[in-house]
Amino acid sequence: MAEIPPPVQPIGIEMKLRKLELPAQTSQMYDDFVAGIDARIRRGDDRSDICRDALMRLWGHPQGDPLLQAQMDPRNITLEAEYYGDCDPARFAAVKPLLWLWYSFDRSPAGMNLELGIRLRRMLAGHIFKRVGANFKCFPYVEFTFGYNMEVGDNVVVHRWVLLDDRAGIVLGDRASVSDFVNIYSHTHDINLQQFVDNKVTRIGARCRLTYHSTVLAGAQMGENSMLGAHGLLTRNAREHAVYVGIPAKKVKEKDRELAAPVKHPQQKM
Ligand SMILES: CC(C)(COP(=O)(O)OP(=O)(O)OC[C@H]1O[C@@H](n2cnc3c(N)ncnc32)[C@H](O)[C@@H]1OP(=O)(O)O)[C@@H](O)C(=O)NCCC(=O)NCCS
Repeated sequence: MAEIPPPVQPIGIEMKLRKLELPAQTSQMYDDFVAGIDARIRRGDDRSDICRDALMRLWGHPQGDPLLQAQMDPRNITLEAEYYGDCDPARFAAVKPLLWLWYSFDRSPAGMNLELGIRLRRMLAGHIFKRVGANFKCFPYVEFTFGYNMEVGDNVVVHRWVLLDDRAGIVLGDRASVSDFVNIYSHTHDINLQQFVDNKVTRIGARCRLTYHSTVLAGAQMGENSMLGAHGLLTRNAREHAVYVGIPAKKVKEKDRELAAPVKHPQQKM
C-alpha cells in the first residue's frame, strides 16, 4: 500500500470534554465510599470482608436467599486465573477480593455510574496493579487476568469491554488510550502442544491509541504515538508515530510528528 501524506488540517471539529458536577452531597457520599474502602485496605483489614461489605451496601444489604449473599464474598467464588499453573497464588490472593469488587461493582446497580466507577477503579488500581500513574481513567466492564502484572503510566484511559491479559505483563505508557472492545494479550499457546504457554510482556508506548475492537498479541511492542486501526490485529512490533491497520496489521501511514507533539496535559478531574 502506497504511503499517504498526513492531512494538513485535522478532520472534524475539536472536541473538548464537558465538566459535569454532581450534587455536592452525592459527590461527598461517593468520596466517602471510596475513601472508606481505601482506608480499610491500607489498615490491613481482611480484603474479602472489605469487598463483601462494599457489595452488600451496593445491593442494599439483601436478606433472604443465601445464594445471593454468597456472591458478595470473594471466598465463595473462583476466577479463571486461579486455575492457571503460572498464577502466583500468594500475589493473586492479595488482589482477588479487589478484582471481585471491581467486576461486581460493574454489574451492580451502580455499574454504569461513570463518576463513582472511575473514582473507585482508580483507587483499586493503586492496590492491584504493579504500578499506576496519575489520573487513571477506566470505564466499565474491563477485565484483567492477574491484575498484579499491570504497569500503567499517567493519564491513561481504558474504555468499555476491554480485556487486559496481563499474564506476563502489560505496560501502558503515559497517555495511552485503549478503545472499546480492545484485547491486549501477554500469553500465547504452542500450536501443537496447547499446554505449552509462552508468556511475553506486551508494551504499549506513550500516547499510543488502540482503536475500537483491535487486538494486540503477546509480546508485541508499540512505539510511542503509534496507532492501531479499528479491528486491527497487531502481531509484530509497531514503529513510533505510525498508523497500522488490518489483519495482520501493516503500517499504512506516518503521523505528523509536529501536530502530535506532546502537550502539557492538564490534570483531569475525572
Ligand atoms: C486507522 C484510522 C484512524 C485511519 O484513518 P485515516 O487516516 O482516515 O485513513 P484512511 O481512511 O486514509 O485509510 C488509509 C488506508 O487504510 C485503510 N484502512 C483504514 N482504516 C482501516 C482499518 N481499520 N482496517 C483496515 N484498513 C483500514 C483504508 O481503506 C485505506 O486503504 P486504501 O489506501 O487501500 O484505500 C481509521 O481507519 C480507524 O481505524 N479509525 C478507528 C476509529 C478511531 O479513530 N478510533 C479512536 C477511538 S478513541
